[in-house]
Amino acid sequence: MKQLIRYSAFTVALGVSLFAADGKTLFEQKCAFCHMTTKPTPQQRSQMVAPPAAGVMFHVKDRYPNKADAVNFIVDYAHNPSKEKALCPSIRRFGLMPSQKGAVTKDELKAIASYMFDTFPPSGFKHPKGMGMGMGMPLQR
Ligand code: HEC
Repeated sequence: MKQLIRYSAFTVALGVSLFAADGKTLFEQKCAFCHMTTKPTPQQRSQMVAPPAAGVMFHVKDRYPNKADAVNFIVDYAHNPSKEKALCPSIRRFGLMPSQKGAVTKDELKAIASYMFDTFPPSGFKHPKGMGMGMGMPLQR
């Protein structure tokens, strides 16, 4: 019996720690090659293919300050992105995000979205005004 209790506690602890690590790991595997997790240097900024995670979450939280709403938005957007839903003005520079259907499941997205909400933008983040626009890129809309 003691053995069983110890085993159960271990399993629960393992489950919790795996779940906690999950969103971060999944984000790094499935999203970070487009969405940088660090502040881009000017050199990186000119080569970016998508807004950094901090910028994405700045706009998502602006519209959806509540975590549950923000998570719902991200889970939906990653599978069904559209110009109408987009909150990031930098869509004008980068174009619409390609749907990640097939690359990531809904459950994985929930963990990813929760991690994104808890992590970005980092405290002290200042949104660079006009990001994606004042860079000599013509507006396409
Ligand atoms: C191939 C590159 C690419 C990958 C991979 C990618 N994204 Fe994006 N994402 C973009 C681009 C480009 C934009 C900006 C244009 C837009 O908003 O659609 C964007 C924007 C977003 C936005 C903001 C949408 C808005 O309101 O404008 C969210 C949220 C997002 N991505 C989540 C994710 C998540 C979660 C993943 C991983 C499962 C992911 N993205 C993977 C390219 C990518």
